This record gives sequence, structure tokens and C-alpha cells, in this order.
Amino acid sequence: MDMRGIEEIIEVLERGGELTFEAFKMLMAADDGGVEMLRKAARECADRVYGREVYIRGLIEFTNYCGNDCLYCGIRRSNRNAERYRLTREQIMSCCEQGYELGFRTFVLQGGEDAYFTDERVCDIVSEIKRGYPDCAVTLSIGEKRRESYQAFFDAGADRYLLRHETANEEHYGRLHPPELSCADRKRCLWDLKEIGYQVGCGFMVGSPFQTLENIYEDLIFIKALEPHMVGIGPFIPQKDTPFGNMAAGTLDMTLRLLSIIRLMNPRVLLPATTALGTIDPRGRELGVMSGANVVMPNLSPVNVRDKYALYDNKICTGDEAAECKSCLSRRMESIGYKVVTARGDYKFI
Ligand code: 5AD
Ligand code: FES
Repeated sequence: MDMRGIEEIIEVLERGGELTFEAFKMLMAADDGGVEMLRKAARECADRVYGREVYIRGLIEFTNYCGNDCLYCGIRRSNRNAERYRLTREQIMSCCEQGYELGFRTFVLQGGEDAYFTDERVCDIVSEIKRGYPDCAVTLSIGEKRRESYQAFFDAGADRYLLRHETANEEHYGRLHPPELSCADRKRCLWDLKEIGYQVGCGFMVGSPFQTLENIYEDLIFIKALEPHMVGIGPFIPQKDTPFGNMAAGTLDMTLRLLSIIRLMNPRVLLPATTALGTIDPRGRELGVMSGANVVMPNLSPVNVRDKYALYDNKICTGDEAAECKSCLSRRMESIGYKVVTARGDYKFI
């Protein structure tokens, strides 16, 4: 691969130009020297917008009951081996209290699509958190809902919503999900969330079964069109009790390249170095930040439920208290010259 080619593509992206499929393939095939140029450009881009600061979000995995049956996911409803739990409202509030004391100013409530948590219950929890911690942002990550529900959560005070689109390609979507779920519905949810006024996060798994480079290119085009405030990507990791239990995991290399490309295509985007990335490589999250990521999401869930929120095998941090995770991540970020900051860390509108 000639370096000039890679350099030119990076320059086009830096000017806000279009990434063609040919250029995308070149970036994904670039040799070590090319990847280093890509990584460096992406990191400089993030530094220009966010400096050498990394935002933390406190993740509260409040239920692993799920009515959905996504083929890749360890908490899918047909997984009889998943030991189910849901946190009470009091337990959720105590996670926030602990998190607040540790300096967290964003709480991410993530869970399976659990019918127990009706709109009313979700709204009650959101408004209680906002009442107790008016200086904090509340992010919901609880799946596909009706637009009216999203509106109700927003009116109750929710600021942000994470809903990975998983893949922008209808056919690929069909191979990862049961027939009752559709790519079009998923995208509709994301547009609804944006229209309502949430800061929205979409995203996908890298190296998910059957994924092609064409599929990933479609993901990038979709992201460009949606203009989300956040993009969550991490490697697919098999979970042994799912139909994809024997499939290969996504790679560190591919995930890092994509983090850099997404950063260059969307300079202001909030981009987490995910737990899945930290799971496939002990330095995954550090490398993620060095490739353009600027968010980390340590776990605030009670330690006794941690290992039950097993979307994939060998998930890290399942035995560590929130305080340990926070100081571990602070240390990790310092080791690469970055600083974890406790600010709410909103999207930087121009
Ligand atoms: N490997 C990696 N990520 C996964 N997710 C679900 N299952 C897996 C897996 N096996 C991701 C999905 C989902 C998010 C909460 O976790 O992208 O949107
Ligand atoms: Fe949880 Fe390191 S981030 S132990």
C-alpha cells in the first residue's frame, strides 16, 4: 500500500470530504505505517475538540431480563442458563449515590428489554435521579420503545439515549436477529430519539457474524447521515450459550482502525473505548483512546450481579467495586498521558 494514498484519504477526511468505498477498503487494508498515520490523525482530531481529557460514564446494568432474542447476546430470552436479576429502585439509587461520591456526573441505565420496567417505572426512576442529582446527565439504554415512551422518558428528565443500530444493512440485520426485529424499526427509533431532542448514540459490533466490509461501510454512511452525538463500537465476542457461541471474535486491529475512521469522519462525536475492547485485549481501552476514543464507561452495578450481565464471555471488571474500576481507569488513562475528568461531558456543539 502506498503511503501517499493513505495520507490523501486522511486529508480528505480531515477536510470533511467523503469517504469512498475504495478509500475505506484501503484504510482497512493499510500496513502498520498506514495504520499509525490513521491513528495519529484521529487522535490529533480528538485532541483538538476534547483535549487530553477522557470522560467517564457510570454504567448501571439494572436488569438482565430481556424479551428479545438477538442471536449474539448472552441475555437473550432463550438463554436458559442466564441467571436473571433486576435491581430495585432503591438499589439503583444507591448505585447513583456511590457513583456521585466517586465523581460520576453521568449515569447510564442499561438493561434488557424488561417488561417489568414499564414506562411509568422508568419515568419514576429517571425523575428520582434527576431530583437527587440535578447536575448529572441520565442516559437510558433500554432498547426499542414506542415514540411516546421515548417522549415520556425525555419529559421525565432523561438527557441521552444509547441504541446501537447493530448493522445498517437489512439483510445482515436479519441474520443477527429473530424475524420479529427489523433494521428499519431500529433506525426509526434512532430518528425519533433525535427528533425528540435526546443526545443519541448508535453503534455496532465489529466482526459480528456474517459482517462484510460492505456492511461496515454502510454503517459508516448511516452514522454520517444520522449525525449521532455518540457512537459505541466494540468487538463482537461470542457467548457460549448463544447460537453464535462458536463464532470468531472481532479483532483489536479492526476495532482500532474503525475507531480512528469514525473519529475522523465525525470529529466531535463522543466515542467510548468499550468494555468489550478491554476484554479482547488487556490494553484495549488505552489503545482505543490512543486511536481517537474519548469516553470510558466503568461499571457501577453492585458486584453481586456483575457477572450476570454477561452479554459475552470473559467480560472484565466483574469482580471490581466501582471505586476500583474508577481508579483503575484513571491510572490506565494517565499511563498514556490522558486524564479522566468528571464533567458531565456533553457533546460539543459548535
Ligand atoms: N459481543 C459484543 N457485544 C455485544 N453486545 C451484545 N452482545 C454482544 C456480544 N456477544 C452489544 C450490542 C448491544 C450492546 C449493549 O452490547 O451491540 O447493543
Ligand atoms: Fe474495572 Fe479496571 S476498569 S477493574
